[in-house]
Formats: sequence, structure tokens, C-alpha cells
Amino acid sequence: LVMEKQARQQIFEQAKVWVLEAGEQIRKRMEQPFKVETKSNPNDLVTELDKDTERFFVEKIRSHYPEHQLFGEEGFGDDIQTLDGTVWIVDPIDGTMNFVHQKRNFAISIGIYYDGIGEIGLIYDVMADVLYTAIRGEGAYKNGEPLERLEEPQELDKSILAINSFWALRNKRVGEEGIHRLVEKVRGTRSFGSAALEFAFVAEGIIDGYLTMSLMPWDIAAGIVIVEEVGGITTQANGQPVNMLEKNSILTSHRDIHQEIVNEYVELKI
Ligand code: IPD
Ligand code: CA
Ligand code: CA
Ligand code: CA
Repeated sequence: LVMEKQARQQIFEQAKVWVLEAGEQIRKRMEQPFKVETKSNPNDLVTELDKDTERFFVEKIRSHYPEHQLFGEEGFGDDIQTLDGTVWIVDPIDGTMNFVHQKRNFAISIGIYYDGIGEIGLIYDVMADVLYTAIRGEGAYKNGEPLERLEEPQELDKSILAINSFWALRNKRVGEEGIHRLVEKVRGTRSFGSAALEFAFVAEGIIDGYLTMSLMPWDIAAGIVIVEEVGGITTQANGQPVNMLEKNSILTSHRDIHQEIVNEYVELKI
């Protein structure tokens, strides 16, 4: 079964209104001091605004779409076991470290899935006021303007790759030797500190790929839909399909460089 088109359009329009409203709230509230706490380690930050923004979506969705579920980073949504029905996969602030330290370069990310299929993606760069959107089968947009499909041929040695330098150090997830060769091979690397924005930039064609070893469903749910709509491809870093209920390694990129990175450069350890 697929989501009924008219219903989908209506949900998209509603989600867009809420995302813009949530962004407006964040911009207002961040002018005042806010509480910053740590989660799993001293560098894993969370603020009142992360929590309140997620609560905002939980309340909206529960009152407007009581049959929908919400799967969010800060845990105010539902305890999701399956992707049956309509599930909003929400990262209220993606790039909290940027939010705290830079007061910019963070995003609200919302993927809306129906029976496991990504139907809608929204990524809102809050301070730039740029909204990336996609509806499955209907293309991707940046502030309402269509994004071009990634049709120009792409070569790895002329590519810009987003990657966190951490993965080039000795680590438990990926062989560092392959990553060293990859960093040498590509034209340049970047690290933006928001997975959602890194997906959006791949879709926009301003970077050619984003490779990382550990992301949660809310980091990627929207981005996967948007990248797909311009003809890009997203898998785990070993080429396997992504599991939207678990942690994944991720390679999202232009089609032409995807297989080569998987085959020649990535050696997963776990
Ligand atoms: C993080 C950001 C970051 C990525 C981390 C994510 P958060 O999300 O997307 O760029 O490297 O793995 O956890 O915690 O800021 O929402
Ligand atoms: Ca976080
Ligand atoms: Ca995130
Ligand atoms: Ca977050």
C-alpha cells in the first residue's frame, strides 16, 4: 500500500508550516540564555530548545494526527518497534554542537515514512532560513525552487566528500587505511557538523558525498528522501540497505562515485 496522494500533500503542507514555526521559535528563544546539558559523554550536548522543539512536534502530531507515531531523538515521542503506518522521524535540532558553539549551521530534520517507505523529507537550515523538501516521486526543492537532478557525470578525484576527521583516526568502526587513501583521492573534504545538512548539500550538488560510520534514524530519515529525489543514492557504508530502526553507517552520494567508495575504500570492522 502507498500513501494516498492527496493525504500526503496535506501532511506535507502541515509539516512545512510546523517546521517553519518551530524554527521561528528557536531563533527567538536563542537570544535569551538557555540550559545546556550533556548526554552520553561531555561532548554530547542537549539544550532546552532541543527538548522543547521535539515536544512541540509531539503535541502537534498527537492533536492533528492521533493515529500517526513520532520517533524522535529526545524521547518524547513513541517507543517505535516497527515502521508500520505513518511515522514522523524527527530530529528537533540536528547539529546541537553547532547550535551551542556557533549559533548557526544546525537544522530541523523531519522524515515522514509510511509502512517503511520515505514519503516526505524536510530539512530546515534555521539560521539561513533555507528549507529543503521532497515528496517521493515529485522531486526535491530548496525554498520551493526545484533542485537539479545529479545528472552530470562525476569522478571521485574531482569530488568533494563530507567526512568527519575522526574516521581517519584509528577507530573501532572502519579501517583507517582505506579512509586515508580516500581522503588523498578526492579533491577535498569538508565537515559541516550536521548530518541533515550534509545530506541536503549532497542533494544540492555542492558536495558529492557524505561518509560516516554512525548515525541514528532521525539524522538521516529526511535526507534519504531528498537525496533520492535528485537521483543520488544512500546505503550503509558497505553498500547494504539502511535499517531505519537502528544505528547505521552511511554513504550518501552521487551515483557515479558510490560503488567505488564502497568497494575500494571502506572496510567496516563491525
Ligand atoms: C549529530 C550531528 C553530527 C553527527 C552526529 C550526530 P545531533 O546530531 O548530525 O553532525 O556527526 O553523529 O549525532 O546530536 O547534533 O542531533
Ligand atoms: Ca544529539
Ligand atoms: Ca542528529
Ligand atoms: Ca538532535
